[in-house]
Amino acid sequence: MRSPYPYLIALTLALVSTPGQAQFRTLRFPCSQLVTERLDPLVTPGSVSPHLHQVVGGNAFNITMDPAHDPSSIATCTTCRFREDNSNYWTMAMYFKHRNGSFIRVPQIANENTGAPDGGMTIYYIEPRAPTKNRTVTIFPQGFRMRVGNPSLRSNIYGMNHPAVNQTTMRCWDGSGIGPGTPSTGATDSRGFPTGPCKGGIRSQVYFPQCWDGVNLDSADHESHVSHPVGKQAPDGNLMFGTDCPESHPVRIPLIFMETVWDTKPFTDPSLWPAEGEEQPLVWSMGDPTGYGHHADYIFGWEGDSLKRALSDEGCMTSYPGICEVLTRRSDEEMAKCKIVPRVDEITEGQYIEKLPGCNPIQRGPEPATVISDCGAASTTIAFPGATGGV
Ligand SMILES: *[C@@H]1O[C@H](CO)[C@@H](O)[C@H](O)[C@H]1NC(C)=O
Ligand SMILES: *[C@@H]1O[C@H](CO)[C@@H](O)[C@H](O)[C@H]1NC(C)=O
Ligand SMILES: *[C@@H]1O[C@H](CO)[C@@H](O)[C@H](O)[C@H]1NC(C)=O
Ligand SMILES: *[C@@H]1O[C@H](CO)[C@@H](O)[C@H](O)[C@H]1NC(C)=O
Repeated sequence: MRSPYPYLIALTLALVSTPGQAQFRTLRFPCSQLVTERLDPLVTPGSVSPHLHQVVGGNAFNITMDPAHDPSSIATCTTCRFREDNSNYWTMAMYFKHRNGSFIRVPQIANENTGAPDGGMTIYYIEPRAPTKNRTVTIFPQGFRMRVGNPSLRSNIYGMNHPAVNQTTMRCWDGSGIGPGTPSTGATDSRGFPTGPCKGGIRSQVYFPQCWDGVNLDSADHESHVSHPVGKQAPDGNLMFGTDCPESHPVRIPLIFMETVWDTKPFTDPSLWPAEGEEQPLVWSMGDPTGYGHHADYIFGWEGDSLKRALSDEGCMTSYPGICEVLTRRSDEEMAKCKIVPRVDEITEGQYIEKLPGCNPIQRGPEPATVISDCGAASTTIAFPGATGGV
């Protein structure tokens, strides 16, 4: 039978590659927002986190929670396109600082070409590409987790040649499209916050490590069991592509890349911006006005061998959105309906607040930020009626 999709496939290849560059094969899908709250199941399991996070996905983080103690912490569904993906993916949240000193959370919107999830993220599982020598990947074991980036950073401590320098970046959209180049190497990509207003939004871009020690599901700092690849990169100049795993971390895992689009459009009015010569007004929820504290976390939670099946399926790896018949597709409505209620009793969005949630005074650096505690912020969770939208 003639495939009904040839034109869609051609369109997709154009989207994931730039003329003159090798295209990459990837499983790509959106996940709606699950919850935005001051919890971090990886770094501070079972207690209130120092700063606000935005979380997508399902119930994988139940491995670090105590469901008997707090059933509302467990999602009964996933906010991701494919029902089989109960992984959790999370990052810090973005705030806008008004001239008068108050803060408001910058909303998330759906990414380009992803359908209409309720904000959230676009997740990619990207296959290694040439000149990588060994392109066979090992699927994450159950219980695997990791973090990338460091919330206390306030400057580029890496220089431009260290593999970590392009792991977390931002792209300033001018409103005319998604911009040129592989994420992190484009002309409008930056490692800190963009310096001027972004009229089409800001896309944050995160590359997780692709090499694993093959033994540990996690490590004390949540990152030393994994590593970025090293060596000679693909022609587009980003070390995330085309490179090999170091001997210390020889096992190749799929490259997880994720994007969040922040709707900065309501915050471009010059009358809202700081006076001439003052610094740009966006801050991460850790009190970071530089952008260099950009970080993200992952807990693996795919059912059975579903990720392996998807990564070996042509339809899943070359097409978008959703010609991936080996997985169960959920509608935008089903994804958006899945929510858990924040359990820290504080205002985090929708209105101006006098200070960022938690103890997060603005720390500009350039030296790393210090941890502030005892500022009177909420430090315990409260019980709410529980999760909604179970499917
Ligand atoms: C925790 O998540 C795993 C993987 O998604 C699931 O199989 C398990 O049933 C969950 N446990 C609870 C208590 O919800
Ligand atoms: C990071 O990206 C820049 C382009 O934006 C490139 O010049 C540099 O070589 C890259 N560094 C690594 C380690 O990939
Ligand atoms: C390639 O990598 C896979 C998975 O990490 C490993 O099992 C295999 O032995 C490697 N092959 C070679 C030729 O090194
Ligand atoms: C700053 O302006 C916003 C928007 O008008 C307002 O909601 C907020 O209360 C103001 N904050 C202060 C400290 O005046």
